[in-house]
Amino acid sequence: MRLCTIGAGYVGLVTAAGLAETGNRVLCVDSDPPKIERLGRGEIPIYEPGLGELVARNVAQGRLSFSTDVRGAIAASEIVFVAVGTPPRADGAADLRAVDAVADAVASAATSPTVLVLKSTVPVGTNARVRHIVREATHRIHVVSNPEFLKEGDAVADFLHPDRIVVGIDKADEHARDCMSRLYHPFCLDRDRILWMEPASAELTKYVSNTMLAMRVSFMNEIAGLCERVGADIHDVRKAVGADTRIGAEYLYAGPGYGGSCLPKDVQALLYTANEHGIELELAAATDRVNRRQKGVLLRKLEHHFDGFLHGRRIAVWGLAFKPRTDDVRESPALTLVDALISEGAQVVAHDPEAGSVARAHFGSRVEIVDDAYDAASGADALVLLTEWRQYQSPDFERLKDTMARPLLLDGRNIWSTYGLRKRGFVYDGIGVQGT
Ligand SMILES: NC(=O)c1ccc[n+]([C@@H]2O[C@H](COP(=O)([O-])OP(=O)(O)OC[C@H]3O[C@@H](n4cnc5c(N)ncnc54)[C@H](O)[C@@H]3O)[C@@H](O)[C@H]2O)c1
Repeated sequence: MRLCTIGAGYVGLVTAAGLAETGNRVLCVDSDPPKIERLGRGEIPIYEPGLGELVARNVAQGRLSFSTDVRGAIAASEIVFVAVGTPPRADGAADLRAVDAVADAVASAATSPTVLVLKSTVPVGTNARVRHIVREATHRIHVVSNPEFLKEGDAVADFLHPDRIVVGIDKADEHARDCMSRLYHPFCLDRDRILWMEPASAELTKYVSNTMLAMRVSFMNEIAGLCERVGADIHDVRKAVGADTRIGAEYLYAGPGYGGSCLPKDVQALLYTANEHGIELELAAATDRVNRRQKGVLLRKLEHHFDGFLHGRRIAVWGLAFKPRTDDVRESPALTLVDALISEGAQVVAHDPEAGSVARAHFGSRVEIVDDAYDAASGADALVLLTEWRQYQSPDFERLKDTMARPLLLDGRNIWSTYGLRKRGFVYDGIGVQGT
């Protein structure tokens, strides 16, 4: 099939490469010329394991190409995927301007009946809104809701082996159903993964999934605070709670608050939608509140260790990405902490295996970002771990002790709690863990 993805970001690029891999001819389009130029030179603008190989193979075999020509791509495609950003507006609602712009372009540029697939995360009612925008197009535009569930860091595997494929479609639209069935058939060879439903249900499913995940994290973060008061250990509690098959073990890790480009904005957008309909989602609201508070937990701990006075302290930060295996720093708890440290007059030296250059663009000269993790720790009054990259899992603690001005380790991901660090001369603090 001939298709295009509009948007070459985390979702658009993975979708384009993933669908090229199963034999389609895919044009991946973005309105950002430097991004398309880099892709044209064979560079991958984001860090995502396995994506470079997937893109290179499909480009080499002639199935995947890149362009900035949105209208030309639409005119040449049977299926148009919308994978543009839907960032939060100041009031929490999803900003749909980019989605509307693509819908307008499809309405005027399509040269034949076209299936327009909404892959961006969009609030309930967007499918209907887009249908309204394209209603007077010369050719019929079939609007489908197909939210994406990939995780950054595992995006390629998630796309190629999805748990489920949610397709929201008008029941009477046989053409769209047939196109989506054919497109996703290669992903359903072992079992049918497509869940067909009304567009509103598909749209809502995405927000409910992300809010459920966020709720688990916020609940465990609250329980971590209780653990610290009562002498319990969140690791032990998590393992025992997660062993219950009704609950499951995923997304139960206490930490510095959830970040990324999806969970925070999607919880807020769900709240906004509910509010518009006169419904108060109390659990979702509490999830968001708890997370905002949790993003300050490491700052409060540092203040505690330095008697409330961080001015002039040299603080090393390991990890800037919102999670490992990505260079995405959007809404990362590390950015919140670093900004707060700077405003309190601390000197921050940071390291991240992949997110350094993205973070440099964010902080400018306010933060020193170094290429070697031990250089960041050199002379530091404290080392704060924010992202559990593998290379931080088992560092050379003796070297750290020698190089740091003061052996204070603040473990925002609880990965060092069982290493006996106190016995080895460190001041060790985690989130809801006892430590030894
Ligand atoms: N990142 C994730 O893990 C993830 C997972 C599932 C769903 N989503 C959702 O997918 C959507 C895209 O997310 P992302 O992380 O890929 O965003 P992104 O910011 O990485 O990429 C969006 C791209 O769209 C381009 N763009 C914006 N307006 C355009 C236009 N009018 N024409 C052409 N290109 C345009 C931008 O230049 C950018 O490259 C969002 O709605 C997001 O919520 C993201």
